[in-house]
Amino acid sequence: MADALPAVGVPAEQILAELRELRGHDLPTHGGRLFAYVYDSGRTGLDELVASANALCAHVNGLDPTVFPSLSTMERELVAAAARLLGGDPDTVGNVTGGGTESLILAVKTARDARPDIAQPRLVLPASGHAAFGKAASYLRVALDVVPIDPVTLRPSAADMAAAIGPDTVLVAASAPAYPYGLMDPVADIAAAALAAGVRCHVDACFGGWSLPYLRRLGQPVPPFDLSVPGVTSISVDLHKYAYASKGVSVLLHRSAPMRRPQYFAWAGWPGYTVVNPGISSTRPGGPIAGAYATLRHIGDAGYLELARATRDAVRDLAAAVSTVDGLRLMAEPETTVVCFTSTDPWLDVFVLADELAARGWYTQAQLAFAGLPGSIHLSVTASVAPQVAQFPAALAAAAAAARAAGPPRVPAHLLDLAGTLAPEQLTPELVARIATELGLVGTGRAGPAMAAVNTLLCAAPVPVRERLLVEFGSLLQSPAAHPAGAPAAAQPVVQPAGQPAAAGG
Ligand SMILES: Cc1ncc(COP(=O)(O)O)c(C=O)c1O
Repeated sequence: MADALPAVGVPAEQILAELRELRGHDLPTHGGRLFAYVYDSGRTGLDELVASANALCAHVNGLDPTVFPSLSTMERELVAAAARLLGGDPDTVGNVTGGGTESLILAVKTARDARPDIAQPRLVLPASGHAAFGKAASYLRVALDVVPIDPVTLRPSAADMAAAIGPDTVLVAASAPAYPYGLMDPVADIAAAALAAGVRCHVDACFGGWSLPYLRRLGQPVPPFDLSVPGVTSISVDLHKYAYASKGVSVLLHRSAPMRRPQYFAWAGWPGYTVVNPGISSTRPGGPIAGAYATLRHIGDAGYLELARATRDAVRDLAAAVSTVDGLRLMAEPETTVVCFTSTDPWLDVFVLADELAARGWYTQAQLAFAGLPGSIHLSVTASVAPQVAQFPAALAAAAAAARAAGPPRVPAHLLDLAGTLAPEQLTPELVARIATELGLVGTGRAGPAMAAVNTLLCAAPVPVRERLLVEFGSLLQSPAAHPAGAPAAAQPVVQPAGQPAAAGG
């Protein structure tokens, strides 16, 4: 890998060649076979438009709306479009943020700071709510009241959510839909309970906010979930998901300007420039916002309806393909744009299956077993998947056969024991480095880690140990020593040899 700061600058063509080489190690962002991380409309010409729009505004700074009114204008239009889609009215206000996590952190901060009278503010969150709420709670020192999801419906009951609301609750969260299985929370009932208790309710529509209105227009049953629902006080939608904008753009809407006010941070207590920020960052890049604006204007309302139609059909066909494979079971009938399935056969391990699918060019997302729910394979389906769908059933059948033949991942028993018995604080960096090496996460010289083994190990560990392992693995992977040869970690998973069924596995 090349030095980021060479003694003497390098010609542009060479740098672009290096970048292309680096990108060659990534999973393909386009082509409809990567079912997480990327949202691809499949529309030709969109990337070029976004690149040009981005370039026009790359040096524009959202720090001060009076200096670059171009950005303020685009942000206002993005907010207005989101409000129109999501049941807003003339009182609705909003801001563009850098992503779903920032939107959720700000929603929690706004609700917390609206109640300075509460010493230890609390957030009521369904267990299926996005990890970003956990991050917000952690960053903002808000206590979490996690409401389990029903093992059959896989969503929280409104009654349980209502019962969890207490005098210190500053916010109740609901998802539309929740990411893991793509299922809608009972938003109207949850919001009614929050309203009755005089507590704010945020709807996390980061994932679904831009597809649900269109799916509804296509005739799909979509329960009420947006600002038209009494009691919903704020809602977030990521433009870099189903609005198909490039990365770094989400919108957070509030029912009214007074409700939004605690979101802002202003600072005049220093001799420098005055600061007023609606979000976490101060300097904010104009490029992604211009890219999102260009994307919305180029696709247009009619375009989004067609993209939702293609997505809906792809979801239907993918789910049908899963249902035909012996030993696989849909976690739930798809309600939105997610297909999620698990295995009912101990010899057909879902994590091995995910690796086998990857080996065939289909990149899915593994979800760990959690609170009695089995490990699963998640597919976030986008419009670009549609032309690929016909080839999925054969690939899935072949991958399932190969996974069954391979058996569950072979993870050394002593590692499973360690994961199951050690306390998080006993996992020293040295020990985790040894575990990571044994699992092939680092230092094996192989093309990449066998994710099935890593996921099986994580499944064997209680949640605090999982989190500790994740932190140490993340830290290892992001330290220069993990890539001694200077080679980027390739994203291609390697299939593990056969093993015994692991009780804790998928
Ligand atoms: C429902 C939901 N909320 C929030 C987020 C976080 O979004 P981001 O990754 O843009 O921070 C996601 C991401 O997948 C999501 O699905």
